[in-house]
Amino acid sequence: MENHPPVRVERRPVSETESRRANGPDWDRYADEYQATHGEFLGDAGFVWGPEGLTEAEAGVLGDVAGRDVLEVGSGAGQCSRWVRSQGGRAYGLDLSHRQLQHSRRIDAATGIVVPSVRGTATALPFADDSFDVVFSSFGALQFISEIDEAVAETARVLRSGGRYAFSITHPTRWMFPDDPGEEGLTASQSYWDRTPYVEVDDATGVVSYVEHHRTLGDWVSLLAGHRFVLTDLLEPEWPAGHDRVWGGWSGVRGRLTPGTAIFGARLD
Ligand SMILES: C[S@@+](CC[C@H](N)C(=O)[O-])C[C@H]1O[C@@H](n2cnc3c(N)ncnc32)[C@H](O)[C@@H]1O
Repeated sequence: MENHPPVRVERRPVSETESRRANGPDWDRYADEYQATHGEFLGDAGFVWGPEGLTEAEAGVLGDVAGRDVLEVGSGAGQCSRWVRSQGGRAYGLDLSHRQLQHSRRIDAATGIVVPSVRGTATALPFADDSFDVVFSSFGALQFISEIDEAVAETARVLRSGGRYAFSITHPTRWMFPDDPGEEGLTASQSYWDRTPYVEVDDATGVVSYVEHHRTLGDWVSLLAGHRFVLTDLLEPEWPAGHDRVWGGWSGVRGRLTPGTAIFGARLD
């Protein structure tokens, strides 16, 4: 829930088609600003799991990636995959946004670490069964998808047996609070259990311009278990002392009291 042109906020059901039609162009519009604002923090070949700045080198959720086939779903400009490549993994990116992928190519050229990437959606991965040892998303794709069951099923399909799946999302408990980095964002104002999506409608055109979906912690555990995954990690990174960066609704004011990011790790049975 970042800042966008004049929009009205609604809470109502939205289909996968409508979610995708909104979020692809939204990320195309937003990509330049996103990379200009957050690119340095992310690092061209860096892997952070979220605004708290926890890195994969510290967290080790993916395990050893050297020599592994790795897919990043919602790869954006490919920073995380580039880090995986720097560690000897064969990482590939997939993203819905053409503009995000152009940024990925720009950074490929600048760093010389190339992440082969494809435009596509998490609910229909253009890869054969059993193609990867690791699939991950760092705030990529999952909370923008309506048909989350298809996305997790697709991940299980392209993963080899025993493979790792890891992803970070906005911590589900944040759903209860206004998306405000200040004191306002500390008072619960809506139900944790209300899964009705957050929808922004462009005031001028009436077109749905942004969608975010919510699942509870229990929903995620059931989803993973329903697709042969064994949950191995649930990390809730603490806000580091002295970290004063504000990113959308993430800030020290909130981060010192409530978790902002959840990182799930699982193994395919
Ligand atoms: C917050 S960015 C995360 C990218 C990268 N990990 C980063 O930290 O910059 C979310 C990405 O998910 C992508 N995305 C949104 N919906 C998607 C979908 N259905 N399938 C694949 N990617 C999607 C967006 O285009 C965007 O690049």
